[in-house]
Amino acid sequence: MMSNDNTLPPVPQRVESQRLLIRPSTRADAPYLKRWWNDPQVTTPGGNQAGMQYDDDDMETWFRRYVDGRAHSTHFVICLREPTEQPIGEFYIASDDRPGCVGCALIIGEPSLWGKGYGSEALAAYAEALFATGTCEAIRIDMRVDNVAAQRMARKVGFAVEHVWANGQFQTMLLSRAAFELHKVRQAEIAAGLRR
Ligand SMILES: CC(C)(COP(=O)(O)OP(=O)(O)OC[C@H]1O[C@@H](n2cnc3c(N)ncnc32)[C@H](O)[C@@H]1OP(=O)(O)O)[C@@H](O)C(=O)NCCC(=O)NCCS
Repeated sequence: MMSNDNTLPPVPQRVESQRLLIRPSTRADAPYLKRWWNDPQVTTPGGNQAGMQYDDDDMETWFRRYVDGRAHSTHFVICLREPTEQPIGEFYIASDDRPGCVGCALIIGEPSLWGKGYGSEALAAYAEALFATGTCEAIRIDMRVDNVAAQRMARKVGFAVEHVWANGQFQTMLLSRAAFELHKVRQAEIAAGLRR
């Protein structure tokens, strides 16, 4: 559900981290998004073993539905900042129930880039920017219980399992603003050799 509270600012529109830039999706990104969404290797961990198999008309419909005419974006492309801002993945706000919570999802669309810390870096950078607005208390992310990479990515940012769905196949992980701050303190202590 997208927020109907017009007094709230939009979710962050452009977020930078050490290696990444998260910025609104545009039509120029269509070839990347189409390739990623249609790739069974990318979609299988989320439970779709066939890929979306979108054709150009489907992509056009998607852009009309989620991008065109919007003053503020909820769909973003994750880019490598250097050297050419190459798109490598997608991040989106799936639900916006602020000030309580937003739901999000992400993919790193290039499997050759998995396991290099890009997913957790993007998630942490967006969480930092979102919590800094003071308009959001928590972030949720849904995933299959057997999606080990997504779980590890989320745990590295401070997410914890909130609940396993009744079907036993999916779970919701939650990051509260307080948990994120505590996680950062613990990470700093580990980096300083004060904690293991
Ligand atoms: C989930 C996803 C976004 C993670 O991106 P990423 O850039 O690889 O994330 P990170 O490198 O920050 O973290 C991934 C962690 O999972 C581990 N991992 C990667 N593949 C794994 C696998 N097949 N089995 C177990 N662990 C795996 C990595 O080693 C890393 O953990 P570590 O740093 O503790 O070693 C990416 O794998 C992806 O796009 N998957 C397909 C789509 C998807 O599942 N999206 C999540 C739904 S919200």
